[in-house]
Amino acid sequence: MSTVTASSRKEHRITARSLAARKRRGEPITMLTAYDFTFARIFDQAEIELLLVGDSLGNVVQGADTTLPVTMDEVIYHTRMVARGAQRALVIGDMPFGSYQISEEDAVKNAIRLVKEGGAAAVKLEGGTKMASTIERIVCAEIPVMGHVGLTPQAVHRMGGFRVQGRGEAGRTQVRDDALAVQEAGAFAVVLEGIPAELAKEVTAELAIPTIGIGAGVHCDGQVLVMHDLLGLNDWAPSFVKQYANIGAEVSKAARAYADEVKHRKFPDEQHSYK
Ligand code: KIV
Repeated sequence: MSTVTASSRKEHRITARSLAARKRRGEPITMLTAYDFTFARIFDQAEIELLLVGDSLGNVVQGADTTLPVTMDEVIYHTRMVARGAQRALVIGDMPFGSYQISEEDAVKNAIRLVKEGGAAAVKLEGGTKMASTIERIVCAEIPVMGHVGLTPQAVHRMGGFRVQGRGEAGRTQVRDDALAVQEAGAFAVVLEGIPAELAKEVTAELAIPTIGIGAGVHCDGQVLVMHDLLGLNDWAPSFVKQYANIGAEVSKAARAYADEVKHRKFPDEQHSYK
């Protein structure tokens, strides 16, 4: 029987600082996205170590085609709910498009908002060499930063779609330079998204900070998935996704059973009514 209580989980909180030692010990790091209290609590109790309030909420919560419309206020709103559900996991707030590209002052101000108003313990932003000085500024404000290189969804228009990155010599060099720049700037970890597994292996070996892969093969120091993909809540998922449950079908079955019983006046029965 587990003796881990809510208060002992809080005492054993995962910190950004502790992750480099995990890499040195060769302990794989687990990360999932979460967007609300209920799922944050479930994932936290399942001992998922990092919870990312991803701007993927634009796709999976809001139904948009890209992450570009997501605002700071929306990420803060979701981060606050996730922070309430996480006793042990490190909560990372994703900086949405437009919140850090205009100026470094803006970036620091918005990162502070994610910590102060959202309750995040770290922030994530996309981009490598071009974002290095921005990462440095946020780190100087005492906020741990996770980088994100390779396929960066906020650059969908520049990339010409959601395409695998790091192919060909120039592509490989770019991803490597980006990852090194993020580390140099003081990030505590970096997401490698949508790159060939061999390149992710090389980058992971070169960096001292942990790499967290999504569509980047098994050699990264950790893995992240969007929770809706993991749980089978979407109609479609990219080929790198492994679906660990089919919750969408279960929800649909429950909703149909409920509707059927309501239509046939079987619900509520006596057991589910007040006397
Ligand atoms: O927004 C997000 O969910 C992400 C992960 C896919 C890494 O950036």
